[in-house]
Amino acid sequence: MRRLRATEGLRSLVRETRLEPAQFILPLFVCPGTGVRREIASMPGHCQLSVENIVLEAAQAQFLGLGGVLLFGIPETKDETASGAYSDDGIVQRAVRAIKLGVPGLPVITDVCNCEYTSHGHCGKVVDGEVDNDATLEWLARAAVSHARAGADIVAPSDMMDGRVAAIRQALDANGFQNTPILSYAAKYASVFYGPFREAAESAPQFGDRRSYQMDPANGREALREIELDLEEGADMIMVKPAMPYLDIIRQARDRWEVPIAAYQVSGEFSMIVAAARNGWIDYQRAMLESLTAIRRAGADITITYFAKEAAALIKPPQSSRGAAGPRIPGAVN
Ligand code: PBG
Repeated sequence: MRRLRATEGLRSLVRETRLEPAQFILPLFVCPGTGVRREIASMPGHCQLSVENIVLEAAQAQFLGLGGVLLFGIPETKDETASGAYSDDGIVQRAVRAIKLGVPGLPVITDVCNCEYTSHGHCGKVVDGEVDNDATLEWLARAAVSHARAGADIVAPSDMMDGRVAAIRQALDANGFQNTPILSYAAKYASVFYGPFREAAESAPQFGDRRSYQMDPANGREALREIELDLEEGADMIMVKPAMPYLDIIRQARDRWEVPIAAYQVSGEFSMIVAAARNGWIDYQRAMLESLTAIRRAGADITITYFAKEAAALIKPPQSSRGAAGPRIPGAVN
């Protein structure tokens, strides 16, 4: 076996898995105000950004050749009815319009959920201390339609309510957005690795936890049922989240379905690598690339990752397209 490992040239020749910037999606946190760039303590290098700074970030994402951005919102105020999630003037809706104006070619995905917008921090409507499934569907459908109206290219529900994909599909179709695809967070686990995100999005639940709607980390077959149901309901793409602790789920989904599969390398996965690297315990760049390669090897087509910009720059230093000489026809005069 060692013959083909002898030089970097040979290793590159027989490499099975390669990374491309276009496979990466960069998550962004948009907040009210102007000129805001507030660093998130538990996610070094990532910030809550006001709308005009989000546009700058989106422009960089496009320059680096990323596949797109995924938007999360921190609203001015939170309430019992998550009104900021589905208002046409909500923070995410404003950010989508601004990106579409400033960086029109970049795909914009919106996270459709309520936990950043509810005063209690749960992903749905709380009735008698419980998250009410069907009442929440209405909020989600309204949010998805308002994101599409603002110009979102893809809507991505992350709430884990039952039946949300069907409800969102129906609402999009009824409002003239038949062509807006749904990327469903189909297999989303109740994971401890979301910790840093909850600081970033100010979305930690004020009581209890999310285990009555997000999946038990112990269950694999149940993930396949979740994915199957979401596809039946009309999901165009599915997601497994988190990524590295759930590579087995990504692989099983890959073997079973032909739809595009996304994996979310979540905040805790990112922060652990950064923390270990800061302590000098691990090589930062290699850990980043090895983790992304493993997720892709497991079967993900798309990886949502906080490393998106750095990994893209490492893989493929951006080239200016302006003035680049294109290929010439061999033998042609001029
Ligand atoms: C919202 C949502 C969460 C993440 C994405 N969308 C967190 C949660 O369920 O609390 C986590 C992303 C990350 O950790 O990077 N429902």
